[in-house]
Amino acid sequence: MKSYIVGNWKMNFSVGESSVYLHKLQQKIRAFRSVEVIVAPSLVALQPLSLQVDRKKLRLAAQSANPHDFGAYTGEVSFTQLRGLVDYCIIGHSERRQLFHASDKDIRASVAAALRNQITPILCIGETETEHTFGETHDVVRDQLLGGLSEVSTEDISKVIIAYEPIWAISTTTGAHLASPDEIADIAKFIRRTLTETYGKEAGENIPVLYGGSVNPSNAGAYLTVPGINGLLVGGASLVADQFAEIIETAKKVQD
Ligand code: PGA
Repeated sequence: MKSYIVGNWKMNFSVGESSVYLHKLQQKIRAFRSVEVIVAPSLVALQPLSLQVDRKKLRLAAQSANPHDFGAYTGEVSFTQLRGLVDYCIIGHSERRQLFHASDKDIRASVAAALRNQITPILCIGETETEHTFGETHDVVRDQLLGGLSEVSTEDISKVIIAYEPIWAISTTTGAHLASPDEIADIAKFIRRTLTETYGKEAGENIPVLYGGSVNPSNAGAYLTVPGINGLLVGGASLVADQFAEIIETAKKVQD
């Protein structure tokens, strides 16, 4: 199966800086059939970058969008408006859930809106530190997974990507809270089992499941070889083109 390396730039880089970064990254990486490289810049940079992107090497994603197609939603941008600019959209990132109160209803409507507009949803799921400590990870992961997918038909299920991001492992600088490959393997297996029970064997086996949480060039290889994991969602390390390119190279080597 293909590997997916997604760079989530969050609210970083001006439009000019985004363009310089993209230019640098495109010079550094080769086009690999086995690795799909995706970058998720700020909304404001998507339009100019869509004209600059070399689609043989990488694809663009939005970080979030509003599930309504049009209307009186001041300050929002819809999937319909993003259609043609991006191939992917990150949905339900923990920062959207926690800081902007994205509800389960918003998230499942966003997954449906993405599919309706030919944009591949990257549905993020993951438990908090407290939930982790209290052994609630499987329940939380199952609820977020099935909740987010509840408006997806059996026909469309093959068009989604899942990203498991334990919130306690995101952006840790000390390394004290890194998720271990064994923990991730357990959750990847659980996600696949849940998908199989709900959507059948093919979905359970073939839907890409990515891992995210403090991924960097030194740990990318270990995470990419976790059974059941098909790629990475990278925050901090994706802001440095050299580091992101190194992670992409690692993914290529793991695929070979
Ligand atoms: P991080 O971010 O790689 O900085 O931990 C990952 C994310 O929030 O998607």
